[in-house]
Amino acid sequence: MRLVLASANPDKVVEIAAILGGFEVLPRPADLPDVEETGETLEDNARLKAAAVVAVTGQAAVADDTGLEVLALGGAPGVFSARYAGAGATYADNVAKLLAALDGEHDRRARFRTVAIALFPDGREVVAEGVVEGEITTERRGSGGFGYDPVFAPEGGHGRTFAQMTAAEKNALSHRGLAFRTLAEHLLAG
Ligand code: IMP
Repeated sequence: MRLVLASANPDKVVEIAAILGGFEVLPRPADLPDVEETGETLEDNARLKAAAVVAVTGQAAVADDTGLEVLALGGAPGVFSARYAGAGATYADNVAKLLAALDGEHDRRARFRTVAIALFPDGREVVAEGVVEGEITTERRGSGGFGYDPVFAPEGGHGRTFAQMTAAEKNALSHRGLAFRTLAEHLLAG
């Protein structure tokens, strides 16, 4: 089965291609403009991104959307995780804002949630979700991964942040790993 990836984020493409190893995975067409993530949910946004690729390529597409949900912040930044510190925010800006928002907060529970979608030209879609529970650390640790990885310590990670793990260790525990493994199972099951 041939799947075109909707993500142009090289950090994510490496992770996703490794998990979907049993499929023929094609990169996102270079001339496809960015899709505005105007949906109200992760699933809406994933579907928007996949639909844009299907429309241009006529082939099945795979897209995902991820949010970091912090309990003490009422689930924020959630669907706004990429632009938590404003439009054009860098990963570092977002992490700085998160640490400031949780300054002095004892309840640091958080979860990453990923929704992954495979959308076919005939309109059929397969949806899968992956969630990993964890905690926001009080300071950045580690240099691997991307995004909020330096301040997210997942359950089962022995106190390490995602940024302190190898890519394989992160994939084994992560929201995206779980979502794409589940998606692959659903796809293989037909
Ligand atoms: P996206 O919409 O799936 O690209 O994810 C939204 C934002 O969530 C990204 O800009 C990152 O800041 C963050 N994010 C997504 N996945 C991860 C991850 O695996 N680790 C850390 N941050 C992530």
